[in-house]
Amino acid sequence: MGSLQLLPPTASSHAADMDWLFAALLGVSAFILLLVFGLMILFCVRYRKGSKVERGNRLGRTWRVEVAWTGLTFAAFLVLYFWGADLYVRIHSPPGEATDIYVVGKQWMWKIEHPGGQREIDTLHVPVGRPVRLVLTSQDVIHDFAIPAFRIRQDAVPGRYETLWFMPTEVGEYRLFCAEFCGTWHSRMGGTIVVMEPSDFQRWLDSQDPGPSLAQEGEALFRSYGCSGCHGGAGTVRAPRLEGLFGRPVPLEDGRTVIADDRYIRDSILMPKAEIAAGYPPVMPSFAGQIGEDDLLKLVAYIKSLADKTADSAERPAP
Ligand code: CUA
Repeated sequence: MGSLQLLPPTASSHAADMDWLFAALLGVSAFILLLVFGLMILFCVRYRKGSKVERGNRLGRTWRVEVAWTGLTFAAFLVLYFWGADLYVRIHSPPGEATDIYVVGKQWMWKIEHPGGQREIDTLHVPVGRPVRLVLTSQDVIHDFAIPAFRIRQDAVPGRYETLWFMPTEVGEYRLFCAEFCGTWHSRMGGTIVVMEPSDFQRWLDSQDPGPSLAQEGEALFRSYGCSGCHGGAGTVRAPRLEGLFGRPVPLEDGRTVIADDRYIRDSILMPKAEIAAGYPPVMPSFAGQIGEDDLLKLVAYIKSLADKTADSAERPAP
């Protein structure tokens, strides 16, 4: 209170880095603006009509000045570019121990699911000092998940998983916004990020009615959509086993190799013909239009939960 606050509070591990970059951009822009406009005004006054200032002896062209100012501005912006790119890459590369939290945007709310099955709408509880990885998608149009105090924002795009991570550094409540115009009530689409001490957070998690975890719900869907018929190992159709799959490289029929991440699993469910695992017949039907984003997240969570399991090796097809 009292002092004018130009920037939102800084409450994540990225925030200070982002502010430095912002300050540098602002500083460079302000310097160039002042230089150009300062000289313009100076010359306007100095060489105004009627002033008696010396105007003869035009200087010849010199390539040194041209090269110097071109080279310097180029170097300055290259530094800013690499600085920004490095920060961008770091914001999108979560540390391995980060907790996954799933976020689905829809007109006009944020639906949030914790790995333990706790659900929230327009509020996100997170522990302080622990990295959190968000997996974002949208059920309808493009939204944008923005937390100014953490200096992060990321579009939530229908049909794609976007990830970003943050580590809150200050306990408190911060505003959450939708930062992409998404329809009539876009301006009301927002909420609160509640950063808690880890012990308080654990108590909060325990106090919520967790219901089944995402992975458990995913397992039920895995059966009800009939996935287990082929991928379960008991069926007659030869399909890749999913135990131990997540996070590992998958050789494809066309010679490429992809990592089995959230995107790969999702695409394999919706567009199974796009990336066929090497050695398997392309017989899987597409589930596009049949499975909603919520359920897809659950299926992905289930397949992710199988990452540390191993399939009975006898049921694996010969290489
Ligand atoms: Cu959602 Cu704007």
